Amino acid sequence: MNTPWRTYLLWFAQENVQFRFAEMNSLLSLLNIQMKFIQKPKDIEPYWIVEFASEKDVRLLASRAVSLRSCLELWAHGKSIPDLHEKLKLYPHHLMAPYLQPDKSFKIEVETFCKHFTQKEKVDKIESFNYLPVMGPVDLRKPDVTLQYIEYYGIISNDPPDLPYDVFFGRWIANGLRQLIQKLSLKTRKFIGNTSMDAQLSLLMANQAGVKEGDIVLDPFVGSGSLLVAAAQFGAYVFGTDIDYLMLHARTRPSRITQKEREKDESIKANMKQYNLENRYLDVLVNDFSVSFWRSNIELDAIITDPPYGIRESTERVGTAKECNAVKEEHLSTHIPAKTEYGISSLYSDLLSFSAKHLRVGGRLVCWFPVFREDYDENYLPSHPCLELVANNEQTLTKVTSRHLLTYKKTETFNPLHTAQNEIMDFRERYYTAREETRKERRTRETKIRQENRLRHEKETHDKTNIS
Ligand SMILES: C[S@@+](CC[C@H](N)C(=O)[O-])C[C@H]1O[C@@H](n2cnc3c(N)ncnc32)[C@H](O)[C@@H]1O
Repeated sequence: MNTPWRTYLLWFAQENVQFRFAEMNSLLSLLNIQMKFIQKPKDIEPYWIVEFASEKDVRLLASRAVSLRSCLELWAHGKSIPDLHEKLKLYPHHLMAPYLQPDKSFKIEVETFCKHFTQKEKVDKIESFNYLPVMGPVDLRKPDVTLQYIEYYGIISNDPPDLPYDVFFGRWIANGLRQLIQKLSLKTRKFIGNTSMDAQLSLLMANQAGVKEGDIVLDPFVGSGSLLVAAAQFGAYVFGTDIDYLMLHARTRPSRITQKEREKDESIKANMKQYNLENRYLDVLVNDFSVSFWRSNIELDAIITDPPYGIRESTERVGTAKECNAVKEEHLSTHIPAKTEYGISSLYSDLLSFSAKHLRVGGRLVCWFPVFREDYDENYLPSHPCLELVANNEQTLTKVTSRHLLTYKKTETFNPLHTAQNEIMDFRERYYTAREETRKERRTRETKIRQENRLRHEKETHDKTNIS
């Protein structure tokens, strides 16, 4: 006989709220868990009321969710304190009884969201539950059962209402993965660079990518390797490439103000060692992403990356404008190739084509995409016929700029005739010219760029069709 679904309260952190849905959706699909909403969630509120088929599913979800603080089996939800008590008294006895037996130690915790109460006030609140048929001893340190009472006063902490908006009571099931953010914090990481991705966003990206034990994950713009750390934490074998030799060898200027010189043993590998993830580290190598050196049949489970935007680090590729660029034999061993601008449009075109070719079907590309907010148009995001955009969430950077976290899933086998669609504005160019240009001039210039991109795309497709 099927056990009936139970109601749970998922309580989220009020940080990076915009990624919550995408993270949960991708974890539900990765872990193959069904979840039903009991109440339509509101973006601004830190909780969801949902149903799961089993407690095992809740624990599994919590074991991977970075945006989740905790989960309760929900015994009662009221719109006021008296309402909550009334509802709790109606909760079926046979559902709570197994947790209130004489051999089960317990404690009741009180959480008041956005309003502070003294310890005495909290104890009074606990005592208001003395009608519960608990038989076991109280154990405040390591109880068998933790019951939780939550009063929710909204999210504006400096002006909370007198009475709570919502009140909840339930049995604590599990916490999310918030402690990992602390463990992997950049503050205590051995090797970091100026554009190292913080631990929380790196973990969210790895979850968006659906990384699992034994996966092979690449970051083609690896920098100091923060995204590799997060993917390795979830069991992937990781490797990366970067055009910057000095960065990959930890020979750039130190990024911490307190640090004068880099330590000799700083490296991405040392970071992996620091977190006991060395056995997940494959390697990193110096490579210009625009020049593909990969075996054509190499297959990846995920590509997680933060390409350069051209503001804090340059967008470069190997190349020269000179017509005669042959290097003399005697200079070959010490030659450092010249670099030219790697336009954002070409870069994303390359990234999507590469992903379409080298991801396994079902594999994911998770990448940041910089935008000038005023210009943003969902229709002009990078796209590829083999890749479905499954999530798109914005993070504001400055008054006028944002970046979007894009998650693509490979949905069909790569077809060399397919090319990345790409009518995107060059963020870098836009960033530097924004203040000097009128709106009308900009529109004209953008239309011209789009037309040029479209023509180039049509020509590429036409050439490929003719070749084949
Ligand atoms: C935003 S940073 C990545 C930071 C990285 N996620 C981290 O946590 O340190 C972008 C990186 O792309 C690299 N890059 C720029 N142009 C490149 C190219 N053509 N090929 C490969 N890497 C490139 C830069 O050297 C830089 O390290």
